[in-house]
Amino acid sequence: MIRHRSHEEATLIERAQRVLPGGSLGNVYYPGDQAMIIQRGQGAHVWDVSGNRYVDYLLGSGPMVLGHAHPAVLKAVSSYLERGSTYFSTNEPVIYLAEEIVRAVPCAEKVRFMSSGSEATFFAMRLARAHRRRPRILKFEGGYHGSSDYAVMSVTPKDLSPFPQAAPNSAGVPAALADTMLIAPFNDLSTAANIIEKHQDELAGVIVEPFQRLIPPAPGFLQGLRQVTQAHGIPLIFDEVVTGFRFAYGGAQQYYGVVPDLAALGKIVGGGYPLSAVAGREEIMRHFDPVMEASNDFVPLVGTLSGNPVAAVAGLATLEQLRKPGTYQRLFATGNKLRTGLAKVLHEAELPAQVVGEDPLFDVYFTDQPVVDYRSTLRANSQMMKRFNNLLLERGILKGASKFYVSLAHSDDDVDFTLRAFREAAEALRGAG
Ligand SMILES: Cc1ncc(COP(=O)(O)O)c(C=O)c1O
Repeated sequence: MIRHRSHEEATLIERAQRVLPGGSLGNVYYPGDQAMIIQRGQGAHVWDVSGNRYVDYLLGSGPMVLGHAHPAVLKAVSSYLERGSTYFSTNEPVIYLAEEIVRAVPCAEKVRFMSSGSEATFFAMRLARAHRRRPRILKFEGGYHGSSDYAVMSVTPKDLSPFPQAAPNSAGVPAALADTMLIAPFNDLSTAANIIEKHQDELAGVIVEPFQRLIPPAPGFLQGLRQVTQAHGIPLIFDEVVTGFRFAYGGAQQYYGVVPDLAALGKIVGGGYPLSAVAGREEIMRHFDPVMEASNDFVPLVGTLSGNPVAAVAGLATLEQLRKPGTYQRLFATGNKLRTGLAKVLHEAELPAQVVGEDPLFDVYFTDQPVVDYRSTLRANSQMMKRFNNLLLERGILKGASKFYVSLAHSDDDVDFTLRAFREAAEALRGAG
């Protein structure tokens, strides 16, 4: 496919440049010729304003696991809309959604809603601090937990500090906050455990993506973290914004068999609408309870759109689809075909590359060295990755900079189309040397 650009889309790109920094939302950025304005999505496809169709592996950065405009979600949302948009008060859909989260997610005894994944991780960390009455949180280098001042520590550091020193990945973060975070290498249990033990008296909690970006946990890593945090009474927070309801109905904690104290949920749980949640043990979640207001242990959380009923209805409709028998087998089978097909193509093209991830979420690293943590990702050839992504985009494959999200809407035809694009892109990369 050769993408064409209509006058209408070119005009919109110019208008975007005038009013949006970089002409973009900051989420995905396609410079110059690659810029595009999305017009609509249906199932596994999106179309830009010029009418080019893409097989979509960006999936709205993950929420659209059923595909775009799924009829069951559309029906549930549109039939709710006449009851209003938001009330700021407890409503029926949030109770049903909280009940479903408690049924599904092993660590969930109580649930509190907010609007974005960043808020969920931010409040999970604050809750841990309130519960332990201690200031510091340990996170892993390369782990992404959204955009709070705490979460942006050591996400993609250019200068590698010695562990456990944190460094902010954003301008505008007070330098003093770096001291409130401790950084450990993902998948290195002994270093993480040593830091936890050394700092146990000031540590409020440990936050981890159980599947960090694309990197699966090494055998025993999550189990070891669970043991060492439990031994010292330190809350373990799983950031399941990506993995929740994706790796299994109960998330990564079900899939990997390790139950944390708290989980941050987002993306799928809102069915494509702004909704996120902190779920966890009652003993910790009680700090959100207004009966605590008179004490110094209360964590107030007030949000205009927190627990929005329309988003909760979309989430409930999405979860209902996911509960159907065979759903996860199907999601994993589609992902597996793509993942193994991609690995085969890269191998046949003799490119130094590997596919990293799990079936519903994976991507390529252009290195033949093992990828186990942030520092090992730096060995990968990022220019080659950019070229590969561009070659795929030209062939009608839309994806994030470093992620293929798989949906239940991707058909065998979509998979075949994608495997053809993989082959052509890999050949072109090999040809470019
Ligand atoms: C693991 C993880 N945590 C938190 C977030 C932040 O979520 P949001 O973008 O909804 O603020 C993301 C977003 O991609 C994420 O991948």
